[in-house]
Amino acid sequence: MKTRLNYVWGYALAVLFCACGNTNDTGKSADTNVKSQQGLNPDIERKVDSLLSLMTLEEKIGQMNQYTGFWEVTGPTPSEGNQALKYEHLKKGWVGSMLNVTGAKEVTALQKIAVEETRLGIPLIIGFDVVHGYKTVSPIPLAEAASWDLEAIQRSAEVAAKEAAASGINWTFAPMVDISRDARWGRVMEGAGEDPFLGSKIAIARVKGFQGDDLSANSTIAACAKHFAAYGFPESGKDYNTADLGTSTLYNVVLPPFKAANEAGARTFMNSFNELNGIPATGDAFLQRQILKGDWNFNGFVVSDWGSIGEMIAHGYAKDGKEAAKIAANAGSDMDMESHLYVEHLSQVVKDGDVKEAYIDDAARRILRLKYELGLFEDPYKYSNETNEANVVGSTEIQEAVLDMAKKSIVLLKNDKQLLPLKKEGLNIAIIGALANDKTSPLGNWRLGAKNGTAVSLLEGLQAYKGNTITYVQGPNFVENDIVFSRQLEFNISNKKGLQEAVSAAKNADVVLMALGEHAMQTGEGRSQANIEMDPLQQELLEAVHKANPNVVLVLSNGRPLAINWANENIPAILETWHLGTQSGNAIAQVLYGDYNPSGKLPMTFPRNVGQVPIYYNHKSSGRPNEPSPGEVFWSHYTDESNSPLYPFGYGLSYTSFEYSNLQVSNVENNSVKVSGTVTNTGAYSGKEVVQLYIHDLFASVTRPIKELKGFEMISIEPGTSQTVTFTLTEKELGFYDNQGNYIVEPGDFKVFVGGSSASGLESEFTIN
Ligand code: NOJ
Repeated sequence: MKTRLNYVWGYALAVLFCACGNTNDTGKSADTNVKSQQGLNPDIERKVDSLLSLMTLEEKIGQMNQYTGFWEVTGPTPSEGNQALKYEHLKKGWVGSMLNVTGAKEVTALQKIAVEETRLGIPLIIGFDVVHGYKTVSPIPLAEAASWDLEAIQRSAEVAAKEAAASGINWTFAPMVDISRDARWGRVMEGAGEDPFLGSKIAIARVKGFQGDDLSANSTIAACAKHFAAYGFPESGKDYNTADLGTSTLYNVVLPPFKAANEAGARTFMNSFNELNGIPATGDAFLQRQILKGDWNFNGFVVSDWGSIGEMIAHGYAKDGKEAAKIAANAGSDMDMESHLYVEHLSQVVKDGDVKEAYIDDAARRILRLKYELGLFEDPYKYSNETNEANVVGSTEIQEAVLDMAKKSIVLLKNDKQLLPLKKEGLNIAIIGALANDKTSPLGNWRLGAKNGTAVSLLEGLQAYKGNTITYVQGPNFVENDIVFSRQLEFNISNKKGLQEAVSAAKNADVVLMALGEHAMQTGEGRSQANIEMDPLQQELLEAVHKANPNVVLVLSNGRPLAINWANENIPAILETWHLGTQSGNAIAQVLYGDYNPSGKLPMTFPRNVGQVPIYYNHKSSGRPNEPSPGEVFWSHYTDESNSPLYPFGYGLSYTSFEYSNLQVSNVENNSVKVSGTVTNTGAYSGKEVVQLYIHDLFASVTRPIKELKGFEMISIEPGTSQTVTFTLTEKELGFYDNQGNYIVEPGDFKVFVGGSSASGLESEFTIN
């Protein structure tokens, strides 16, 4: 058995070789699209070169191989089939990374094999989907995006990294920066919504939060911008489906958050399952070599999505596993997540001359570079310390950060009759709906590390306030074992059990809180839906209760925009609470009682009807945008539905009210424009407002959207006072990508809008010469 000493010795030898100039591959990197090594640490580069010089082709390919956890590492050795093979590969040094192995004890045991039993003792990178927290869960990413609070989002990623790192993880498969305009797609819960400007800012915040200033610290982990690219544009919103989009949308909408993530230093990218314009993204050299590693000079590595190299066969792009491995490696996919095709075929493919060895060297170099940056060579066990794990996981600091994030993520959609905030004393409150007493659904999807039942439920959150009388009635259950059955089965009267009880409770209450919407497992990967209204059973419950008592506050939990027309027309108060994570119930209760004045704004348009999807605020004008005369049909519209959304992008109310005035625009030098507006708090509560700036470039060589977000600022204002917010628009905000991918700024006229949503506010104009 190789010992840790051997490993250190192996490493020392490698350095020695390097010092003697005995490297065998440095000349080859010129062939790898790495334009320059800007920003790289020369010391690390030397060590990587030296280690590479000691490695066989198979060992280098081994670094490009990633397996999912395959047995209880602390338990018995695997003995059968696939598992035995994986174990054998691990001991041979043919595994560069593992995913889905967590916990200091497990990771230590696994790392020991890599470090002590392999020829060169190269440590593993341990990856995991820390998407919105690890064991302590923050709101789903779509909810966090609704906060528009970049500091809070960065902090949320920072504490997630801290907790995950304490459990042996050093690489998260996040942030997902896919822009999406389709509420049917189950994975909208995992992104930042529909807008590339907001999405880019959030991508930067998340990358910085995960990675911090020092990647080698044992509280930071490497980020992974995913899924490169266009995974958020599946046809008909169906997961894994074809994406077919033009260059204008690709460059101006899909790519900007990825570019921003790279500029923020994201150390890895994940490619995607979908094909884009006929080429599976995993085999797309244009995306990975030309744009990412070439134009953007990305010097981290690209991991495939789970089995996506092998899926190129089903796509009809590779005839077998060997060809798939060849295509993926040539296209710049550096690490194979779980298709096993690199480890199986790549060595032969290289020997056949179908992939240059320089590409293998480049991929291995990128992976080893990150291992050095993470400090794994200095101490492979630095992330897996059981004492640290016990102190950090679930700590007060982390709970406080996720509670803060949860409160900031809530969006007030409607508040007629001033039903909210609730009085703290003397009320009879009925709480209705199975979601109110659910301690799992609030954790949202993509919470692999968290235990079921660990969220604070809405009921528990409300019970912390003692002044009112609370009656909880579950009502009919719409979900069982994660399956929403009311759409799938004929309604059975027994499913409606509890309906009458709910109605009676409502009759006796001063106010009724209805916890309805989606169970967490209705969203996420593989959970696309053709329907985005409330399911029939919950809708029936809502209508029956409302008939009994109209003082209803609808507390919505969901992971995607919902078409809730009836509720919008009939229910006086609606609070969008998404899936808010571990502290969910506390956050919602604090908002319902006014201890936190809601400040969230929608990061995605809510449609009136699924037939409007994809619906998004930054659409183009079309040649026939306006109704020529009443009743005329030859214009761009539906004959059976309005063009307008139910709730527009950027929309969200507060318990107070804001008025916008005094929009000023002035051109300054170098094609810069200063825009300012005054916001007055005209209500009775102090509150926070996200002041949003949009532009419309009226005429351009490639048509521009009717509105584009180009600035936002969150301000806190006391009642009766005003604040002036000033934005400076520069070429960075005023230009766009042409159809060849060149960023250009064209002279011409612009409109500018400043307000509290994409559909309200003041308007002015300016000209760029
Ligand atoms: C598939 C998902 O698409 C990806 O986002 C995730 O990181 C991997 N599985 C690993 O869990």
